[in-house]
Amino acid sequence: MALRTIREIGDDVLNKVCKEVTEMTPRIATLIDDMFETMYEADGVGLAAPQVGILKRIAVIDVGEDPIVLINPRIVATDGEQTGQEGCLSVPGKCGDVTRPNYVKVVSLDRDMKPIEIEGTELLARAMCHEIDHLDGKLFVDKVIGELRVVTEEEEEE
Ligand code: NI
Repeated sequence: MALRTIREIGDDVLNKVCKEVTEMTPRIATLIDDMFETMYEADGVGLAAPQVGILKRIAVIDVGEDPIVLINPRIVATDGEQTGQEGCLSVPGKCGDVTRPNYVKVVSLDRDMKPIEIEGTELLARAMCHEIDHLDGKLFVDKVIGELRVVTEEEEEE
């Protein structure tokens, strides 16, 4: 496993729509391992492949429960609303308030390319929305209500 360089806002790769993954390969398996290592090293709770410069529909999430791999994920249901602080490893040192659904259901493939369905509320719902946005070239900064703020210590980044 190896750490990958996290691309930051202003890098065009973060604004591109990513391509679907059609088969698991050793190269993609290594990418997923590296994404987890890079995310944990940076104290993040989620990381999408374009954030390490790879335009594929892959994201990893760990909100403190089980590590989740999402491949070609789609949101198929949402409910409710939550407004809360959000950050991004590609926007270091900044955070802002974003409104997201309070519940989402996602259909995806797992790292064995098996179909899975994941339901999440609160932080997990927020993280899945945030990461799936990355796969469509969208950053949270465009959804912030009011102004971006400087992150204080202790605050989690997504
Ligand atoms: Ni992000």
